[in-house]
Amino acid sequence: MKLFIDSGNLKEIEALVPLGIIDGITTNPSLLAKEGGDYRAILKKICQIVQGPTSAEVVATDAEGMIREGRDLASIDEHIVVKVPFTREGVKACKALSSEGKKVNVTLCFSPTQALIAAKVGASYISPFVGRLDDISTNGMQLVQEIVEIYENYQFTTEVLVASVRHPLHIVEAARLGADICTCPAAIIDRMFNHPLTDIGLEKFLKDWEKAQAARV
Ligand code: E4P
Repeated sequence: MKLFIDSGNLKEIEALVPLGIIDGITTNPSLLAKEGGDYRAILKKICQIVQGPTSAEVVATDAEGMIREGRDLASIDEHIVVKVPFTREGVKACKALSSEGKKVNVTLCFSPTQALIAAKVGASYISPFVGRLDDISTNGMQLVQEIVEIYENYQFTTEVLVASVRHPLHIVEAARLGADICTCPAAIIDRMFNHPLTDIGLEKFLKDWEKAQAARV
């Protein structure tokens, strides 16, 4: 399963990419708004650092505007994936942009029928928002399971990009269900590394080694 960072923060991205486990980035208008500065320059820098798919979202709400913005975003860097919301207008824009060969991530997916429609209009990625479903007492991972099953039934090539991840168990579940990608806030990727038994074990190995060295002199 590919791992993306859900962030527009250069420091977070620069800290995680050298670990060699990051395959791409997702941003959204809320994430980029937090950063301030020139969003085009930020997106360009992100693409240069990660050298992988980087989702940048349109803010227009009509298909024509989304297509115009999508073309402009795609001109920033070859790694840009145009993100469009799942609306009727977003679906039209996805069809047009994907027909031009642009990669499109259909975002704000909350149902399997939305995922089916996105695949039919050539989306490269579908983003089911698991955390926001969990927030309203609906099982977000159930949606991922249904989408994976539907896409497998028809060999759709749209990749399932699990979004709105809140904790490492979402990542484990996404991997168990065979999702293609999980996009996570940097803090959650950090938590994937931690286990107290690893720390305790390493401390003991090093202490035992030191003791043995001291006994030899
Ligand atoms: C992904 O592409 C979305 O930007 C993101 O995962 C939304 O997460 P949130 O529900 O934590 O805002």
